[in-house]
Amino acid sequence: MATQRPKRRSQAWFEKQDRDGFVHRSWTGKPGYPQDSFDGRPIIGICNTWSELTPCNIHFRELAEFVKRGVLEAGGFPLEFPVMSLGETQLRPTAMLFRNLASMDVEESIRGNPIDGVVLLMGCDKTTPALLMGAASCGLPTIGISGGPMLNGKFHGKDLGSGTGVWMMSEMVRAGQMSQEEFSEAEVCMNRSSGHCNTMGTASTMASMVEALGMSLPGNAAIPASDTRRNRLAQLSGRRIVQMVEGDIGMAKILTREAFENAIRVNAAIGGSTNSVVHLLAIAGRMGIELTLDDWDRIGSEMPCLVNLQPSGEYLMEDFYYAGGLPAVLREIRHLLHGDTLTANGRTLAENIDDAPCYNRDVIRPFNEPFKEKAGIAVLKGNLAPDGAVIKPSAASPHLLQHRGPAIVFESIEELHSRIDDPAMDVDENSIMVLKYCGPRGYPGMAEVGNMPLPRKVLQKGFTDMVRISDARMSGTAYGTVVLHTSPEAAIGGPLALVRTGDMIELDVPARRLHLDISDEELQRRKAEWKPPSKPERGYVRLYVDHVQQAHLGADLDFLVGHSGAPVPRESH
Ligand code: FES
Repeated sequence: MATQRPKRRSQAWFEKQDRDGFVHRSWTGKPGYPQDSFDGRPIIGICNTWSELTPCNIHFRELAEFVKRGVLEAGGFPLEFPVMSLGETQLRPTAMLFRNLASMDVEESIRGNPIDGVVLLMGCDKTTPALLMGAASCGLPTIGISGGPMLNGKFHGKDLGSGTGVWMMSEMVRAGQMSQEEFSEAEVCMNRSSGHCNTMGTASTMASMVEALGMSLPGNAAIPASDTRRNRLAQLSGRRIVQMVEGDIGMAKILTREAFENAIRVNAAIGGSTNSVVHLLAIAGRMGIELTLDDWDRIGSEMPCLVNLQPSGEYLMEDFYYAGGLPAVLREIRHLLHGDTLTANGRTLAENIDDAPCYNRDVIRPFNEPFKEKAGIAVLKGNLAPDGAVIKPSAASPHLLQHRGPAIVFESIEELHSRIDDPAMDVDENSIMVLKYCGPRGYPGMAEVGNMPLPRKVLQKGFTDMVRISDARMSGTAYGTVVLHTSPEAAIGGPLALVRTGDMIELDVPARRLHLDISDEELQRRKAEWKPPSKPERGYVRLYVDHVQQAHLGADLDFLVGHSGAPVPRESH
């Protein structure tokens, strides 16, 4: 006889009147909860990336308390649980190496526990895609809350953007335009409050993607971490997730193909990070939605950038929030969005933004007077990148978007650092810097080293940008004429591995072309001589290298693509 399916999956743990039910209830109630505080109520898992090793998420214990208030108010029962946290500034060799590992932690923690709905607390760069990917492979009702950006950095009477300011000032020191003492002084001025990077870097971009996809309540992207309206949002999200469980609003109802198309357009309109390309491809892959690298160019590249924020512009996230935040941007481009996509509050995207105000037109420009034209991610193809490479034109120098020059090749980031200031190096501002073996398998983990520092002798001539090409990523806070995510990567024998110093390279962004100017025969000859790098011997890194997909597919592990839902697993005892 078929047993009746419980209304909620947590009932499979708590409703049973046998030995197993005793175990589940007795241990859950251990902190002193009366049985009726959880038994029979929607159980809400609060997936927390708090860690003292992730300074951007350091306020998440407090944020979780506000979520709990909301869950309790709405009649649910909150259970907070930790997952692997990924601190962008501490984790070596790169936090990206562990994005997929953290996503596995999230997925299995959700599926294996008595959880009916999930709240994702996300902040520092990789914590957002890791949690969305893991949750997507389960598909339960899920709502996201971002930690919020830091307040504007303040240095010598001026605003100082996190990340962007580091790249800029370190080049000034190398060019002799800033003292080492001033550079050190800026450390405490840049990061002076809780929250993630306050530029439109990867964290702010991904928080915007969460909102654009409909996975959060409106306003999620920009409220500063230390503004109490962030706590209010957390409490409201806690209330809302209980309703989402009761309404059975799983992730598949929100994360549709149309929602991803909206996100691609929004990424362009905010001058968002190139990192969102690999992350959204990976999240879509978990949802079983076909999204390709070419979609980024086709859907987003003609979009204007409306937001005057660093690294493409001038202002910071605090200014963005006061100007109206993401809803104001969405309203400006609403004629290009799928307005009928469902969002976490139960309303459509169009309904959410219908009357969204803008309070500062210098920060958020009108659609017909954009900050930058045609600012979306451009996807380049050619014999140097058969499967594609990306560039963010809004952060590049316009005069370098069509450029031909001789390659100066670095086989590793360590070689680059050891040679970059060598006055004998044969390089000038017309050279094209090429960095190899920094892709998903090569680094491993596809590090953010694509925005290579410029040679000192070029900086001292007053040049601040050169064409740079690699299979790496770059920080969302970085800028320059930087070609990234070249696929296939050097470590699997992609053409990038075969480039030699002095080869001529042609970059033509309007024509979407990245061409190595040597014959096919010469390429084949070099390929025959090429030897693959050795693999790590054991552990997660070996698993990663054996299974990671290329950047144009999202750099997920091949066996993690797709979803398994959240069926109740068999009993543990
Ligand atoms: Fe955490 Fe930038 S270092 S968001």
